[in-house]
Amino acid sequence: MSYIVFDNVTKEYKTGEVITRALRGVSFSIEKGEFAVIVGPSGAGKTTTLNLLGGMESATSGTIYVDGRCVSAMSKRELTAYRRYDIGFVFQFYNLIQNLTALENVEIATQLSRNPLDAAELLREVGLEDRMKNFPAQLSGGEQQRVAIARALAKSPKLLLCDEPTGALDYNTGKAVLRLLQQTCREKGMTVVVITHNQAITPMADKIIRIKNGVAERVEINRNVRPIEEIEW
Ligand SMILES: Nc1ncnc2c1ncn2[C@@H]1O[C@H](COP(=O)(O)OP(=O)(O)O)[C@@H](O)[C@H]1O
Ligand SMILES: [Mg+2]
Repeated sequence: MSYIVFDNVTKEYKTGEVITRALRGVSFSIEKGEFAVIVGPSGAGKTTTLNLLGGMESATSGTIYVDGRCVSAMSKRELTAYRRYDIGFVFQFYNLIQNLTALENVEIATQLSRNPLDAAELLREVGLEDRMKNFPAQLSGGEQQRVAIARALAKSPKLLLCDEPTGALDYNTGKAVLRLLQQTCREKGMTVVVITHNQAITPMADKIIRIKNGVAERVEINRNVRPIEEIEW
């Protein structure tokens, strides 16, 4: 069985009388250590897919497996442990704690972990050796996103899930963050899933999942992966 399996997953949101069918039967699989990109237009169901994968929401129907465990059958309590120990999240707007330094932001995540990595070492790896004592407001957007990536990695998660991680960054800074995510995947053997609405970055992925109207329209395996430096848009 693949490391991640989505089998005919649906998700409906009820707002009063209105039902929104965010996912209408999404199926795909991702292997351990793959760099997967989920692409599609706004409102297609990308974030919903990632939130289900990360145990932040529950599916309406269908099954989700991660590393041999059925996430879609987990109790609330099991989901809490799954989110806490198994999943690293990176968001568009970094979500750092403003009155903690870069180092403290990463250290706080190590406290949630059973086998945490060294916070200072992680910040060195993401190129922030000289910025550890800085507060988020004293860092650029790209630097803040690097802190957020280090924080997500601090608990050595099984999966790194990133929702539009370059959405708030300029072209070159966005490229540098994507390079860091690809490097992390390769060097740590980490399974990384990145959501983007930018079609152009798909050549850097091992797997491309195209979501449209709540369905995974196409799932491609890329046999000719290119480094982000070679991709222009
Ligand atoms: N909590 C929610 N309540 C109601 N509708 C939602 C909720 N979250 C997402 N949706 C709807 O589900 C659809 C898919 O949303 P989303 O997964 O966020 O798309 P994407 O990330 O691809 O832009 C959209 O129509 C959105 O409005
Ligand atoms: Mg989204």
